[in-house]
Amino acid sequence: MKMEEKLVLVTGGAGFIGTHTVVQLLKEGFRVSIIDNFDNSVKEALDRVKEVVGPALAAKIEFHFLNFDLFMVGSFFFFLQVDLRNKDDLDKVFAKSKFDGVIHFAGRKAVGESVEYPRRYFDNNLIGTINLYEVMAKYNCKKMVFSSSSTVYGQPEKVPCVEDTELKAMNPYGRTKLFLEEIARDISQAEPDWQIILLRYFNPVAAHESGKIGEDPKGIPNNLMPYIQQVAVGRLPELNVYGHDYPTRDGTAIRDYIHVMDLADGHIAALKKLFTPDFKGCVPYNLGTGRGTSVLEMVAAFEKASGKKIPMKLCPRRAGDATAVYAAVDKAAKELGWKAKYGIEEMCRDQWNWASKNPWGYQGKKA
Ligand code: UD1
Repeated sequence: MKMEEKLVLVTGGAGFIGTHTVVQLLKEGFRVSIIDNFDNSVKEALDRVKEVVGPALAAKIEFHFLNFDLFMVGSFFFFLQVDLRNKDDLDKVFAKSKFDGVIHFAGRKAVGESVEYPRRYFDNNLIGTINLYEVMAKYNCKKMVFSSSSTVYGQPEKVPCVEDTELKAMNPYGRTKLFLEEIARDISQAEPDWQIILLRYFNPVAAHESGKIGEDPKGIPNNLMPYIQQVAVGRLPELNVYGHDYPTRDGTAIRDYIHVMDLADGHIAALKKLFTPDFKGCVPYNLGTGRGTSVLEMVAAFEKASGKKIPMKLCPRRAGDATAVYAAVDKAAKELGWKAKYGIEEMCRDQWNWASKNPWGYQGKKA
């Protein structure tokens, strides 16, 4: 089978990383099917995906019709509102289509929320994924690209973080990612016909160059870049800089920010790897740039890209934050043939392009 004939199921396909990956999958010629429960995403995001890929691609992809809870989002991919915790619905999806592989993004990802409501994280992230494995096994679809996170490195004792160091979770969200990695390893150990790639994302930022799709968090953002963006467009008054006494070059914490389009391409590389005959087992890869950027450096780069001043307040450290986290990138380069292309200037340029075109996100300002 040629790569372009393959049908890929994308869970959480309406989300931030999901939408960008769907665009790249379609451009690569994959057929795509999306499920999402819209807990933290909106249907407008999928209309925008359609605008980004354009009518030419639309014409190449076949129609699918399902007789339950179906939203047609153009003619090029089919899409369902399905919650992974509902195994019967999931079974219906797999009964209708023969998927060649799954990219599994769906899940919750806010650290603070996970501390307050841990059962929400266990229910959503763990039960949802366990159901997915069950249904995949039933329909003999055994190729999976899983969204893991640099959170599995905890407070790293050594940087850059290499894939085979000991893993440690610091909060319920991190524990769900760690447990799900262990579950994947156990399944692959017991049933060698599974092929699973665990992608450990560092800090995904930026947006598609069109400015049509991007990150649109509900409520006050937890993460740095969406927060800076909302200060820049006037939705929030100032940025709280959490910690200015870290043992770093300017006292603020260091992270490995990665352009979401690089991340999307990392998924394509991983998926292609799963379709090579030599790939076996369950293998983790870091997706980062290998370069660390401090909070103040990021703010300066964003001010330059946007021409906006970002007022800042220096605050105490945020509980649980590490001093410096960045990726070792050799394994992904060597084995997946993937490397991040973009630096922080391009990340800030594309973040600002998305922000200035959509200051209130996909749905505009609510009255
Ligand atoms: C956070 C999560 C991590 C998750 C990742 C998803 C924590 C402790 N970790 O990573 O598990 O996988 O998001 O992208 O929440 N900062 C500010 N002001 C802000 C927001 C952030 O100064 O308003 C600083 C933070 O202290 C940190 C850096 O910016 O030093 C990056 O923060 P953030 O974007 O939240 O990412 P992480 O904490 O690295």
